[in-house]
Amino acid sequence: MKLLAPYNLAGLSLNSRVVMAPMTRSRAKDTVPDRSTAQYYRQRAGAGLIITEGSQISQEAQGYLFTPGIFSPEQIEGWKQVTEEVHKDNGKIFIQLWHVGRISHHSIQPEGKAPVSSVDTLAENTTCYGVAPNGQPGQVQVTRPRAVSPAEVSRLSQDFVSAARNAISAGFDGVEIHGANGYIFEQFINGGLNTRTDHYGGSIENRLRFLLETVDLMAEAIGSQRIGLRIAPFGRLSAMPPFADEKETWLAVARALSSRKLAYVHLSDQDSLCGNLLNREFLREFRDAYQGTLIFAGSLTKEVAEAMLSEGLIDLAAFGRPFISNPDLVERFAKGVPLAPFDRATFYGGDDRGYIDYPLYHG
Ligand SMILES: Cc1cc2nc3c(=O)[nH]c(=O)nc-3n(C[C@H](O)[C@H](O)[C@H](O)COP(=O)(O)O)c2cc1C
Repeated sequence: MKLLAPYNLAGLSLNSRVVMAPMTRSRAKDTVPDRSTAQYYRQRAGAGLIITEGSQISQEAQGYLFTPGIFSPEQIEGWKQVTEEVHKDNGKIFIQLWHVGRISHHSIQPEGKAPVSSVDTLAENTTCYGVAPNGQPGQVQVTRPRAVSPAEVSRLSQDFVSAARNAISAGFDGVEIHGANGYIFEQFINGGLNTRTDHYGGSIENRLRFLLETVDLMAEAIGSQRIGLRIAPFGRLSAMPPFADEKETWLAVARALSSRKLAYVHLSDQDSLCGNLLNREFLREFRDAYQGTLIFAGSLTKEVAEAMLSEGLIDLAAFGRPFISNPDLVERFAKGVPLAPFDRATFYGGDDRGYIDYPLYHG
């Protein structure tokens, strides 16, 4: 089976093509990964590649309480435990670098200020996890953001560079830029939202400038082969509107990244959340436009993943929810044994229940 065959990811030997998709679990009490985090990832080290939950690159980048960061010495130390544990079992692990942009609340922003974005447009009917008016953690309507100046866009890129350096010093094999799900990069790329009139808004080239400048600076700092990018073409999460040249924009991303020799591009289909957005025709076009390793995620089963690999549509297949309840997912695929169901109630927050207590298969 192709899914279980090894893969050379820019010099990194993966023992299979099964990737663990990034999943926020909201269990980092002081934004610092702890022993449970390390155990959780070690249990899943049998994956060809683990991509961690989204991890904020600065305090301003945070949109949800209890998500881990990768900017303070304590956070870096916490992540070191995680990478050491995963590497003990010969696992490979990238960290997802996250800036939520406008999907945040003043209660968790530095000095209680407004979050930042490309423009000052509020994400209506959109919540994040902050401090509610009663002083307790809870779902709150996100705060209207302020638009960053061009100088601040450069500062944002630098924050990504610092986080990437921190990730390498914490022992990660690489980093994944979170360019999906309506967060900071989509807030620049989306032509329906980004109405800036400077060189970060307007044409496709201008809307991609922040992303590509960031990628290039990070590549100078840690090497392009250690950088992956996750995107969700046609994604509607976090109040992303449709826009005129949407398909052209995403194919332009593919072409621009082809020459940059990244570790991979990771396409996230929000099928389970927003309807089937990435069809085969688009995937084929994207594949032709992007010369490099392509990962796909979104409601995959072993069979669908195998078919997509065999058709040559993708190189690696990412699984999210199945990895929550099946730490030994690759072994289960290999043995052809049934998958354990996941419990949505324990996806986010809480304690070790639903986190590190899913058993291995005993057949
Ligand atoms: C609990 C949970 C948390 C998630 N957190 C993230 C995240 O931090 N970053 C991200 O890019 N996607 C995140 N996702 C999306 C997953 O990476 C994946 O794309 C999605 O679950 C679809 O794959 P699946 O059908 O195999 O679960 C999350 C999904 C779930 C279920």
